[in-house]
Amino acid sequence: MQEQQEFQQRRQRLLSVLGDDAIAIIFSGVEYLRSADAYYPFSQNKDFYYLTGFNEPEAVAVLIPNGQEGEFILFNRRRDPAKEVWDGYRAGQEGACAEYGADAAYPIDEIDQHMPALMLGRTKVFYPVGEMAQVDQRVLSWSASLRRQVRAGVPAPQEFISLGSMLHEMRLFKSEHEQALMREAARISAQAHCRAMQVCQPDMMEYQLEAELVYEFQRNGCRRVAYDSIVGGGSNACILHYIRNDQALCDGDLVLIDAGGEYKQYAADITRTFPVNGRFTPEQKAIYDIVLAAQVAGIEAIRPGVPWDAVQAAIVPIITQGLIDLEILYGDLDTLIEQKAYENFYLHRSGHWLGLDVHDVGSYKQNGQWRDLQAGMVLTVEPGIYIAADNQAVDERWWNIGVRIEDDVFVTENGHEVLSADVPKARAEIEALMAGR
Ligand code: GLY
Ligand code: MN
Ligand code: MN
Repeated sequence: MQEQQEFQQRRQRLLSVLGDDAIAIIFSGVEYLRSADAYYPFSQNKDFYYLTGFNEPEAVAVLIPNGQEGEFILFNRRRDPAKEVWDGYRAGQEGACAEYGADAAYPIDEIDQHMPALMLGRTKVFYPVGEMAQVDQRVLSWSASLRRQVRAGVPAPQEFISLGSMLHEMRLFKSEHEQALMREAARISAQAHCRAMQVCQPDMMEYQLEAELVYEFQRNGCRRVAYDSIVGGGSNACILHYIRNDQALCDGDLVLIDAGGEYKQYAADITRTFPVNGRFTPEQKAIYDIVLAAQVAGIEAIRPGVPWDAVQAAIVPIITQGLIDLEILYGDLDTLIEQKAYENFYLHRSGHWLGLDVHDVGSYKQNGQWRDLQAGMVLTVEPGIYIAADNQAVDERWWNIGVRIEDDVFVTENGHEVLSADVPKARAEIEALMAGR
């Protein structure tokens, strides 16, 4: 019930800024066929979920400020006992009102009959403009069918506006309820990373380590992964989004795990890198310590009022100086930073927003400038250094070392809170945890 209030408050906030001449139309996620008659697991559209908490496909939510039938209308699937025997419960129209707080609900197959009337008198239509051709087509056809009334003097839609920026600005700031869910997603995911460290052995397959992560996610309440787990040993650690996970883990190599569970729709996104046999080599130590120092400095920069790129600004000098000290880069620090010489080794951003989506919504710039961090935002900090075996500019003793360290950080009123702090990242702590195997 508390959850329902949360969803209702979100709708109210959005309704209060839409304006009385507006209507907002939000579409559910779509079921995708995998092969023959088997489907991929259904994943709800996160904007739709954020506003409704409704987790079925084939649904459309309509928000109408001061609407005649109410302000929240849900179109959804009909109850169907024959289908429900196979696929499970559907809320139907009664459930839409009783369980999800809709003011009115209609079967989704009747939407074309109802939408023109709901749009009548509304000049602004908020919907995901230009994201899916079929959606554009339907909204335009509902709007076109109003033309006759327009000739009779009734205002019809004039502006079609993407709901994104308004809604995504709301999603960027996490409520206390959301913070609690994200803490839990990160706590469970940290535990899964600890388990992976504790069971890892040379000659295991990468997917076997992945199985340990999934086991720990699911037995603790994460129904699924927030994104495909990356488990890359040796050279695979240098492939940023490696998800094949089908090679053996070799004695003497590092393994990079980037994995997070999804808890009640909220993502965690954690990366740890550790030695397959439990002991870092001198070269692995040297690279690891640079990345760790950079990551810690990046996190330390986080507090309200600093711009988004303060994190990257803290990371880059440490990575560049570290590579100079190891004679991987040669030259003057400022010049190398200016030339972005680090991009040969650290080629991605410092992180991203985190929330319902792993790469969560919300703008990074405002009026062309990096926006300031504010309390309630959650972001990742994830520097890395990757030296693949084909990097001919680097002595071969550094080859096949890929290190990334990633934590999830909540911006508090006074600074920050690391949500994923339960999994060690200091070398000695990792080695100690692995020594207990
Ligand atoms: N797991 C994807 C990322 O770290 O951005
Ligand atoms: Mn990330
Ligand atoms: Mn990640």
